[in-house]
Amino acid sequence: MSVLDLVRADLRDFGGYRSARSDKLDGQVWLNANESPWANSADIGSQLRRYPDPQPQRLREALAGLYGCSPRQLLAGRGSDEGIDLLLRALCRPGGDAVVVTTPTFGMYAVSARLHGTPVVDVPLREDDDGYHCDFAAVGDAAERTAARLVFLCSPGNPGGNLLRIEDIAALAARLLDRAVVAVDEAYIEFADAPSAIALLEESPNIAVLRTLSKAHALAAARIGCVIADAALIAVLQRCQAPYPLPVPSVEAALAALAPASQRLTGARIRETIGERARLQSALARSPGVRRVVPSRANFVQVRCIDAQGAFEALLAAGIVVRDLRAMGIPDALRISIGTPDQNDRVLRVMDALPVPAGAAA
Ligand SMILES: Cc1ncc(COP(=O)(O)O)c(C=O)c1O
Repeated sequence: MSVLDLVRADLRDFGGYRSARSDKLDGQVWLNANESPWANSADIGSQLRRYPDPQPQRLREALAGLYGCSPRQLLAGRGSDEGIDLLLRALCRPGGDAVVVTTPTFGMYAVSARLHGTPVVDVPLREDDDGYHCDFAAVGDAAERTAARLVFLCSPGNPGGNLLRIEDIAALAARLLDRAVVAVDEAYIEFADAPSAIALLEESPNIAVLRTLSKAHALAAARIGCVIADAALIAVLQRCQAPYPLPVPSVEAALAALAPASQRLTGARIRETIGERARLQSALARSPGVRRVVPSRANFVQVRCIDAQGAFEALLAAGIVVRDLRAMGIPDALRISIGTPDQNDRVLRVMDALPVPAGAAA
């Protein structure tokens, strides 16, 4: 079985756009892309006059080194958001096929599907005192029943913070081998200290892993994320991608962030975040207005409040903006990102001062 069998039939021989950078030509005077021959006066290093390399080899190699895959198995793009969209467009026919999601989950899977006219099949996560759990058998059943081409798993989950077992992901991918691609969104995996599904690629060519520099690497504004998958699928996704997805300043920032000294600091920040998460989780669990704190392996905690609206407003009044999860159908929940120790102390001061509504069951 080749993963290419899962690509939309009408795109299998699609060549994509041939840009001025597609032909590997060499010369001193570049007059093939209708660029300006002069730099803009604001372009201090004269870096921006010419269209960028679509996939700079140095970036691809640095990211492949970081994630432990081959550069041919990796496509860099505008955040993992773009990876989600590319997978959808390459695998699902417009207005047809289906994708499976497990709510509550990251909203962009359903948004990209909606924009593409692709039906979304939901297999909700189950919740108990230990947090959220994915029903892998039900996900496999739903994917088979609806002939879905793509399954989105999020590990650790957003907004649940739950980590999926690598063995369960492998078993689902094996079950759907010739039916669907299993996309594993690992935007927060650095905070989980757990193995990546990238290790499964060798035996499961229908796995695609989404990684990003936006979270642990603190480069959200640079918009650098990637899809890691079978090299044949990566080649298809690249042909579906916009001609010049990676702005030069973003590539420079990513390369600098992947230099050894920056990576050491990133590692220290991850460890600090994990420590702060544990502190916040136990302190919040003792707060009077908190029903419970959902265990999290990501850089946020989901807090179930006695009065979520009151807590949201009190935090906002203190200048602290958190995510209100009520719009996601979780009526009593706020999602609080882990901040610096000082920021987390501010959160705790507000939460500890919350009035407990009369008659509320704690
Ligand atoms: C689970 C998940 N995946 C992907 C993204 C998007 O990340 P990026 O900045 O790489 O587009 C987010 C952003 O919050 C996220 O929570």
